[in-house]
Amino acid sequence: MSEQTKSLWNESVHLPSFPTLEESLEVDVGIVGAGITGITAAYLLAKQGLKVALIETSQILQGTTGHTTAKVTAQHGLIYDKLIKQFGVENAKKYYQAATEAKTLIENIIQTHQIECHYTNENAYVYTNTDNYIEQIKNEMKAYDKLNISGELTDNLPLDIPYQLAISMHDQAQFHPVQYLKAILEEAIANDVHVFENTSAIDVEFNKKTAIMTANNQRIICDYVIQASHYPFFDGQGFYPVRMYAEREYVLAIKTEKDFPGGMYINAETPTRSVRNIRLNGEDIWIIAGDSHKVGQGDQKINYFKNLAKFAKDTFGPIKIINKWSAQDYTTIDGIPYIGTVSSAHDNVFVATGFNKWGMTNGTTAAKVITDLIMKRRNEYSEFFAPTRSSFPNSIKPFISTNMNVTKEFIKGKFDTTKQSISNIKTDQAIVTKIKGSRIGIYKDQQNNIHAVKTTCTHLGCEVSWNTTERTWECPCHGSRFSYTGEVIQGPAKEPLQTIDLNTDVEK
Ligand code: FES
Repeated sequence: MSEQTKSLWNESVHLPSFPTLEESLEVDVGIVGAGITGITAAYLLAKQGLKVALIETSQILQGTTGHTTAKVTAQHGLIYDKLIKQFGVENAKKYYQAATEAKTLIENIIQTHQIECHYTNENAYVYTNTDNYIEQIKNEMKAYDKLNISGELTDNLPLDIPYQLAISMHDQAQFHPVQYLKAILEEAIANDVHVFENTSAIDVEFNKKTAIMTANNQRIICDYVIQASHYPFFDGQGFYPVRMYAEREYVLAIKTEKDFPGGMYINAETPTRSVRNIRLNGEDIWIIAGDSHKVGQGDQKINYFKNLAKFAKDTFGPIKIINKWSAQDYTTIDGIPYIGTVSSAHDNVFVATGFNKWGMTNGTTAAKVITDLIMKRRNEYSEFFAPTRSSFPNSIKPFISTNMNVTKEFIKGKFDTTKQSISNIKTDQAIVTKIKGSRIGIYKDQQNNIHAVKTTCTHLGCEVSWNTTERTWECPCHGSRFSYTGEVIQGPAKEPLQTIDLNTDVEK
């Protein structure tokens, strides 16, 4: 295999393709987003006899789910001590139980359909090599004890990695997410789910019936809408732009000369270092992830893939990179996902977002909670995750800091430009400059062609900045991403950046 900028998951599975929605249709439930939440919800709802349409703006499983590290675990870093302190023991317990039940649901689905998806049970470890975190790891162990989580402190980590102390959570798991979801999508289709690719939802219309409107002017008329596309394309006065922020994370699949000892690992400190493995076609492949940063706020001097590769080489000896990829996810202001009705004004439109990079369990929880809400069944987690929840105690602080960050980035973007002249741009370099009053982003590609765009994000007007690692323009406010030629790679923006012909278009 040669080094690919495609996820190992997507490269190793052949996925079917599906048509674009070319004529309006009527179903019980319209689902937007074919990742783990959308596909699992389609599967669960179709099993209940509901007629479901599932649409995806590009191809199925090419979003965050296809780019995850695919740990199926309730160990979401060092969170339980924090959850207890912020929200109390009962709420912390709910978070743990929801993730554990999501894992059980995944196991049951795998067993029921005999899905080959490299599912293995592993201990999940959080380790630290920094004095500052020793106390936090000890406090996390106390939280495990309070919540009856099976785990232990250990100074005997199976992986040969520098550390001072670690905590393990027993009996967690990992799998190949695309193999798993391809199989359950097939089950859903066998239960009459209609799937459409290259079909973008742009709004929800409320007439006699509710309808998802698509970019090519078709409608999915339905009783219920599920937004499983991370950033809700329909806000419904839920004020999502001010209630969460986007982060990117980078991932490498590598081969090393060492045997992998089992287990899944993540450090407590930053930059994040996450390690797991998978045995594919008789070969041991290590998955190394980390270097996350807020979208549009990364360090332009750093190539994050090179950073990760250096960490892997320094820690595990010679490596061969097979795949590299990146993923994006949202975090809510209180750290708990938003799962449920989008706002009190629209009780038949659901949202599932803010998984805080733990999408395998949180996405599965979302599918189950929303299915229960639609089926009018009691779900003991629905109030806990409800986006309309009255704020938990202490969540005003992160609200203020998230929005101060957006405001800071908004203002900073309006004034931040380089003095560098266009003629001095090096190959594969980007600058932002002001030309005759317009803020312009200019990238010189590897063939020395110049690409210029207006840097004002087409979502809500923040100024995009350059991501050196991925050669993209990224918005620091809500996470939209654009190619260097201006096309939307990732929303919430729906329109491309305005392209500029430097000879003729610059405003006088
Ligand atoms: Fe919202 Fe750019 S202003 S994503």
